[in-house]
Amino acid sequence: MNAVRQIRLFVVAGLALAASLCLGLGSQVQAAQATPQLTTDDCVKCHAQAPADIAANGAGHKKITCFDCHDGHPPKVPAKDIIPKCSQCHSGKKHYELTGCLGCHKNPHTPLNIVLSGNITDACLSCHTQQMAQLKEFPSKHSKLYCSTCHNVHGKIPACTQCHKPHFAEQTKDDCKKCHKAHQPKNVTYGKDIPNKDCGACHKKAMELLSASQTKHKSLACVYCHQDKHKMVPACQTCHGTPHPAAMMSRFPKCGECHNIAHDLNRWNSPAKESVKQEIKKDLKKKKK
Ligand code: HEC
Ligand code: HEC
Ligand code: HEC
Ligand code: HEC
Ligand code: HEC
Ligand code: HEC
Ligand code: HEC
Ligand code: HEC
Ligand code: HEC
Ligand code: HEC
Ligand code: HEC
Ligand code: HEC
Repeated sequence: MNAVRQIRLFVVAGLALAASLCLGLGSQVQAAQATPQLTTDDCVKCHAQAPADIAANGAGHKKITCFDCHDGHPPKVPAKDIIPKCSQCHSGKKHYELTGCLGCHKNPHTPLNIVLSGNITDACLSCHTQQMAQLKEFPSKHSKLYCSTCHNVHGKIPACTQCHKPHFAEQTKDDCKKCHKAHQPKNVTYGKDIPNKDCGACHKKAMELLSASQTKHKSLACVYCHQDKHKMVPACQTCHGTPHPAAMMSRFPKCGECHNIAHDLNRWNSPAKESVKQEIKKDLKKKKK
């Protein structure tokens, strides 16, 4: 609120207005007497709705009077000229440069009763900029939707499951945000508390192999290895360093040549490696001593 213009009601105009109103109602007697000034208490006699609305939900507009906005009255002043422009009092913010204030603030007597109708994005940006920044930085099909497609009532947060099915039956609407953010839905990130079945919903093979495995990897969570961000794949060395002698490793540069894959370790399928196997076992025993 930058400049609330204090509007003075001219006494003369008021008297003339009151008089003409009374005449309009055909009360010659009253008009002949000393004409009383029209006050805001009078408005309700003929206009029940506006005062009731302001009393119930006037918000900031309770701080001003009917006169501050409606300067004069028909027939003295034509009806169209006593409807104020919002810009009389609201100026100096990006939001106040929008057009069609009454499109959202449907009723000026209940200004915080906001109705969002139609497809709205630009008007939201007069106050919220971060969300658009995210939608742009992480392009997805959500970036092509209007803000009001999801937020059709101001301040309302929609559930993802209003528009999408969960990945598996037991997943609830509250689970989605463990991996997704609405304004960057494809940038999947997560914490350490994701149960394996959440990943298993899409990765059946990895899930089955790991569950069937007899090695110590079996008891590890998917997200213990695949940390923080979807599609992150760790190197074995991140956790195990260089466990075997360099000479041996130069002959078999990939851990998987002997250990197969992380989900299904230690499937020896090459007799050629049997001799190395013994070397390594010896080496490991030595280290442990
Ligand atoms: C005696 C009855 C009466 C009283 C009292 C009265 N009005 Fe009115 N008002 C009318 C009538 C009748 C009209 C329609 C006039 C026209 O359209 O020419 C009107 C029109 C209006 C309009 C324009 C509505 C439109 O359709 O654009 C506004 C605003 C208004 N009044 C506000 C007020 C305010 C504020 C007060 C108190 C200060 C008030 N009126 C007091 C009878 C009254
Ligand atoms: C913040 C400014 C503001 C205040 C305060 C205000 N009005 Fe209004 N009023 C408006 C505007 C703007 C419109 C035109 C609404 C439209 O075009 O839909 C309007 C419309 C009206 C109308 C005609 C439409 C209708 O709702 O019936 C009446 C009558 C009216 N006001 C009466 C009053 C009375 C009585 C008061 C005091 C109790 C009052 N207004 C206070 C801004 C105000
Ligand atoms: C005569 C001056 C005046 C006019 C005209 C006016 N307003 Fe206001 N408006 C105010 C004042 C005063 C406040 C309260 C500001 C505060 O509390 O700091 C206010 C507050 C508001 C609020 C916030 C309410 C709240 O409690 O937070 C909205 C929304 C609003 N106006 C919308 C409008 C719209 C839309 C129009 C045009 C239809 C309009 N105003 C016309 C004076 C006016
Ligand atoms: C697209 C819908 C939309 C349009 C168009 C719109 N507003 Fe708003 N306005 C809002 C929303 C949403 C709020 C936030 C309400 C809240 O804080 O709960 C708001 C808040 C306000 C506020 C109080 C908060 C503040 O930042 O001052 C004022 C005053 C206001 N609007 C005036 C206007 C005026 C004047 C216009 C026209 C120039 C206008 N609005 C156009 C939706 C709209
Ligand atoms: C005049 C400024 C203004 C405009 C315009 C506006 N908002 Fe808001 N919005 C606010 C304010 C102020 C809040 C309350 C912030 C808070 O509680 O932290 C809010 C809250 C929200 C919230 C809820 C935030 C939460 O944490 O629960 C959402 C969602 C939202 N706005 C979306 C929108 C959308 C979508 C639009 C466009 C249709 C829009 N807003 C237009 C000012 C505005
Ligand atoms: C696909 C639906 C969708 C679209 C499109 C969308 N939002 Fe949201 N928005 C949400 C959901 C859901 C949340 C709750 C937070 C979350 O899940 O990340 C949210 C949260 C918010 C919040 C609360 C603060 C925050 O960032 O968490 C604001 C403000 C907001 N949105 C504004 C906007 C604006 C402005 C736009 C348009 C530029 C927009 N939203 C587009 C669904 C959407
Ligand atoms: C109002 C409906 C709506 C809501 C609410 C909504 N979405 Fe969407 N979402 C869509 C639409 C529409 C698409 C595009 C679908 C298509 O074209 O196949 C989409 C696409 C997606 C995509 C794929 C994006 C891409 O570019 O491929 C993901 C991921 C997604 N949504 C996740 C979510 C999550 C998580 C939430 C809650 C935070 C959510 N959505 C809330 C409507 C919604
Ligand atoms: C454990 C993390 C996780 C959880 C929890 C999660 N998602 Fe996803 N979601 C993903 C991953 C990963 C993708 C695939 C992204 C890709 O293709 O790159 C995805 C993709 C999507 C897509 C795009 C279409 C598709 O099926 O590939 C939608 C829509 C979606 N999720 C909605 C949801 C909803 C709704 C919830 C909550 C009920 C939810 N997600 C919970 C990780 C998760
Ligand atoms: C909604 C289905 C979905 C969910 C849930 C999901 N993913 Fe994926 N994941 C995918 C898709 C689709 C791909 C890409 C597959 C491809 O490119 O062949 C993928 C790829 C991967 C990759 C391989 C990356 C690469 O470079 O080969 C890893 C690792 C992965 N996901 C781990 C996980 C983990 C861990 C979770 C649980 C936190 C998870 N995923 C949850 C759908 C999902
Ligand atoms: C995020 C860390 C992590 C990554 C990445 C990882 N591991 Fe492990 N690994 C472990 C942990 C923890 C154990 C169990 C250690 C213990 O209990 O002594 C383990 C155990 C093992 C064992 C012994 C199994 C047993 O049952 O005795 C082998 C062999 C092994 N890892 C090989 C690998 C190979 C090969 C890779 C890459 C394909 C790999 N690891 C990737 C953490 C990891
Ligand atoms: C030439 C085959 C071969 C290669 C290549 C190989 N390993 Fe091994 N690794 C073994 C053998 C054999 C054992 C002992 C298995 C046993 O005791 O049953 C072993 C044991 C391990 C163990 C368990 C150590 C312990 O203390 O029990 C880890 C962890 C391991 N390897 C990690 C790796 C990593 C990481 C790589 C890649 C950098 C790798 N290995 C490459 C053959 C190999
Ligand atoms: C011990 C660490 C570890 C655990 C636990 C683990 N992974 Fe992996 N995962 C890896 C490594 C390392 C790779 C790269 C391939 C390789 O060298 O084994 C991989 C590869 C993948 C891939 C891509 C290749 C493929 O097999 O499709 C997916 C998808 C995947 N993991 C999903 C999962 C899921 C789902 C879980 C839980 C059920 C899981 N991982 C548990 C370490 C792990």
